Amino acid sequence: MRRSKSYLLIILLLIPLALFAIGCSDKNEVATVAVDMGDELDPAVWGKEYPLQYDSYLKNNEMSKTDFSGSEKESKFISEPEIKELFKGYGFSIDYNEDRGHTYALEDLLASKRVNETTPGSCMTCKSPSVPKLIETMGASYYTTPLRELAKDVKHSIACSNCHDSKTNELKVSQPAFIDAMNKRGIDVTKASKQEMRTYVCGQCHVEYYLEKDTKVVTFPWTEGLEPTNIEAYYDKMEFSDWEHPDSKAGMRKVQHPEFETWSTSVHGTAGVSCADCHMPYMREDGKKFSSHLWTSPLKTMDVSCQTCHTQDQAWLKERVLNTQTKTFDQQVKVSKVIEEAHQAIKKALAESTVDKNKIKEAQALVVKAQWYWDWVAAENSRGFHNPVQALNSLTTAMENAYKAKEIANSSY
Ligand code: HEC
Ligand code: HEC
Ligand code: HEC
Ligand code: HEC
Repeated sequence: MRRSKSYLLIILLLIPLALFAIGCSDKNEVATVAVDMGDELDPAVWGKEYPLQYDSYLKNNEMSKTDFSGSEKESKFISEPEIKELFKGYGFSIDYNEDRGHTYALEDLLASKRVNETTPGSCMTCKSPSVPKLIETMGASYYTTPLRELAKDVKHSIACSNCHDSKTNELKVSQPAFIDAMNKRGIDVTKASKQEMRTYVCGQCHVEYYLEKDTKVVTFPWTEGLEPTNIEAYYDKMEFSDWEHPDSKAGMRKVQHPEFETWSTSVHGTAGVSCADCHMPYMREDGKKFSSHLWTSPLKTMDVSCQTCHTQDQAWLKERVLNTQTKTFDQQVKVSKVIEEAHQAIKKALAESTVDKNKIKEAQALVVKAQWYWDWVAAENSRGFHNPVQALNSLTTAMENAYKAKEIANSSY
């Protein structure tokens, strides 16, 4: 009897603690009065009404590195030379840089060597606040208009109205692909909670996507689920490929940047910790509390990004992050070498006159699978941190399939 009472007491004491752990501190303290911004897209004009948020937004122009990330425009070929081989025959073997701040998104897109005269307007979709209006007025032709032509009417890189309603300043998603894909999963984003919106606004862009074949409409492949295996199944069904690898002649797929999908099955994601909890911590200036609008590595702000929930000291937390990232990166590089060998083994087999065509097909399917799971981790921007279990699991699947591809190719003649 006494025991069960004290259990009850402990449970009652734990509830607020648990709530604190997932929801964190006093959000409602952030006081702002909404101003109707009309059709304004220029962040500087919004900034006159919301100076604290705008000042922190301008800091996206500054660049600095962390061990595994950072916001300097640096070619991925320096730290990951093997990707040049894996993406051979595709734009990502010509130009592939580390990502940087939101204020550079438009400039970096237009400067990319992957962009040419035939690049469709679709590629503007995650780069500017002009996009929702353009889709509204142009309809389907927005996606098929050449990017360079579309760019003439686009002035601003990612800004306020990509995430905020211009009238109420409430968080809002405007990306049709996100709304549509969530609908197909039975989720109505207009009914999302405030905490969900603190992730959904990011999920508009930080995701895996593809362009529909003829219409070039940006589409999120989510009907089978959000795990890499579900999305692989989706693409298998439609026999989708992005390009043919010139050595193995396999129809390859490029993963984009699946931060939202990766987060959604992680410890933090399932505990309800949003992207904004870590990436847009609360700051204070002149006694006023506001959300940081500098979207960068949370390792630069661990006191307000992590220690709001975690009681451990910063050095310990950072060591946990680096441990995950180092192990993930080591494994990622090892796997990429075996995938490269698999492409070469298939190339060699294809040149043999006695080759068994069925075995080659099998080996090609396996190398596609291997590279898919490898790229799920390589293209995701946290180097394993967002979901350490999924990252290592994906790399194991990749390794297994790369070895099998090699073995079958070597035994095909
Ligand atoms: C409209 C599309 C869009 C939305 C919405 C968006 N992002 Fe981004 N984000 C991008 C693009 C594009 C880049 C890369 C820009 C570049 O490299 O030029 C990027 C880069 C980043 C970076 C890397 C910055 C660096 O220093 O390397 C972080 C962190 C980030 N976003 C976090 C977020 C978070 C958190 C949210 C939600 C609160 C969010 N983003 C919402 C498109 C978007
Ligand atoms: C990538 C998405 C994104 C962009 C772009 C963005 N915001 Fe925010 N903003 C957020 C999120 C998330 C919050 C937190 C809202 C919450 O918790 O209710 C927020 C909160 C705010 C708030 C409420 C007070 C606060 O600080 O929490 C204001 C005001 C605001 N933003 C202004 C702006 C302005 C001005 C711009 C453009 C210079 C901008 N935002 C661009 C995502 C964004
Ligand atoms: C629990 C905290 C946490 C949550 C939640 C979280 N992130 Fe991260 N994110 C991190 C850490 C830590 C890194 C690694 C930064 C580094 O290596 O310096 C990172 C890295 C990133 C990067 C690369 C940053 C760079 O500098 O290149 C992007 C982009 C990003 N996260 C977007 C997101 C998005 C979008 C979400 C939500 C779907 C999200 N994150 C949820 C902590 C978090
Ligand atoms: C809003 C609350 C919240 C924030 C902010 C937060 N975490 Fe967590 N974190 C949790 C919860 C809840 C768990 C799971 C239960 C536990 O281990 O306490 C967790 C688990 C972890 C784990 C162990 C599980 C894993 O995935 O490896 C690490 C490491 C971690 N967090 C690091 C960080 C770092 C680093 C940051 C800041 C960049 C951060 N967390 C920000 C709530 C948070």
